[in-house]
Amino acid sequence: MAKINIAVLASGRGSNFKSIVDEINAGRCDAEVKVLVTNNPEALAITTAQSNGIPVEVLQRKQFASREEMDTRIKETLDRYGAELVVLAGYMLILKGKDLLESYKNKIINIHPALLPAFPGADAQAQAYEYGVKISGVTIHFVDKSLDAGPIIYQEAVDVSGCRGPEDVAARILEIEHKAYPKVVDTFSRGRYVVEGRRTRFVKEN
Ligand code: GRF
Repeated sequence: MAKINIAVLASGRGSNFKSIVDEINAGRCDAEVKVLVTNNPEALAITTAQSNGIPVEVLQRKQFASREEMDTRIKETLDRYGAELVVLAGYMLILKGKDLLESYKNKIINIHPALLPAFPGADAQAQAYEYGVKISGVTIHFVDKSLDAGPIIYQEAVDVSGCRGPEDVAARILEIEHKAYPKVVDTFSRGRYVVEGRRTRFVKEN
């Protein structure tokens, strides 16, 4: 199959975005980033985009009367750049627009730094640390109107025993995120995920 056209949505540091760009550049992820969409004009992710010739669209909450309106503009932007897959990489706003979520149903993915359904929402690594779990991990899932509860595509466990604080947990998990996310994006160039209820099943295409 041909490489897949992706759009990335990021709000901050953008290390997952960078890991995807690096793997694309190394020829190990068969995708092309058509656009970076960010709600934060200060996002470090912008630097990665610029140094790789990737167009950047800044869409800030304050430009719009409502979140619905903002998400409609995001949808129009994704359409305009021909996104076949939308990759959330540290995008800090919950997608709410009905139009966006329906048009891109099972085409938006997110990475979460815990083994869902454990520790959804913000500060998953701190939640895991406070709870005292020995194993946490990474979940990559489809995005729907729920909070971190869309159908799961990929999970990987991470040993967090012996971590000395939430930052330690976050660092161990982030290392695995950077390997997992480009690999999962790459799978979308080789097939598709059939969603049956809560379950996903990968179907290879050529
Ligand atoms: C990552 O921990 C990711 O799992 C979560 O937000 C963080 C983003 O980090 N969704 P970065 O901006 O990719 O460095």
